[in-house]
Amino acid sequence: MTVEKEPIDRRNFIRDRQYGSRARDGFRHLLCRIRSGAAARIVLPAYIGHSPLEGSGILDPLTELGIPYSFYRVDERLNIDLSSLENELARGQVFSVLAIHYFGSLQAELPEAKRLCERAGAVLIEDCCHCVDLPGRGIGDVGDYALFSIHKVLPCDDGGILQRNLDAPDPGPLPPHFRASALPSRLWRDAAFDAIAERRVDNYRRLSAKLRDVDGIVPFWEKLEEGTAPLNLPVLIENADRFEVYKRMRARGVGVVALYHTLVDAIDPEVFPTSHDISRKILNLPIHQDVGSDEMPSIVEALRSALTGG
Ligand SMILES: Cc1ncc(COP(=O)(O)O)c(C=O)c1O
Repeated sequence: MTVEKEPIDRRNFIRDRQYGSRARDGFRHLLCRIRSGAAARIVLPAYIGHSPLEGSGILDPLTELGIPYSFYRVDERLNIDLSSLENELARGQVFSVLAIHYFGSLQAELPEAKRLCERAGAVLIEDCCHCVDLPGRGIGDVGDYALFSIHKVLPCDDGGILQRNLDAPDPGPLPPHFRASALPSRLWRDAAFDAIAERRVDNYRRLSAKLRDVDGIVPFWEKLEEGTAPLNLPVLIENADRFEVYKRMRARGVGVVALYHTLVDAIDPEVFPTSHDISRKILNLPIHQDVGSDEMPSIVEALRSALTGG
């Protein structure tokens, strides 16, 4: 037996990550490597957006590669509907399942989804594109592979990560045109994610407290789950036209988004009414690490006035 004086195993407690141009490019590369036969499909959560400017980060790689897909149901909080996923797997010909941690929240059903995938021989891909990097909190370490989107959470214009977890087959190196520029990977490696998460949670709590007496909105989550570092603060606009509210807030300089204001055509409103209900009402307020507590009153004021037509 030899006991080395220093560690030599490069896979031991070191994440297997490749830094690429965008998450969707890592996803595309991975799909090319793990797909199994032209008829095999990937099963997606029935809440995938599309915009004319940005396309769809999830569907575009699939359509470009001609990979068949179908959807499993999500509930009114965008959690995985396990029985729907199980039904999809039981139909057969599934090579992969995608699970998304929407708006940074932990998908509580992920370990069970992983068990279902293992039983069906499907690869689980965890989409952490709305998440910051907080190892050990159940985000990114459950699936066979995980995707992160650097530009969604740090100040840069591109950057994505393809992570391979233990025992998953090696997808091989990203092609040169999918490799990251220097800035996103440096920012991701140097970012103080604990402090970023703390700021986001703190902002989330402060803003939610101020929103309690605003009529016409419902918080999307009842409470912020322990371990969640939110991407933004999602609310549902109950009695006003969400698009109008969005435009009025933008006009007042508040960087709101609506994830996702338009679902891809393949998500049929008759089959997935819950998804379409969320999509019609969702508005995501900014609480990222650059937002200071002194900006909260103007966000609340802009929302209140946008809701009443001002
Ligand atoms: C959940 C989710 N996954 C993946 C992507 C794609 O990320 P990227 O822009 O880094 O390719 C997006 C956004 O487009 C997204 O919202």
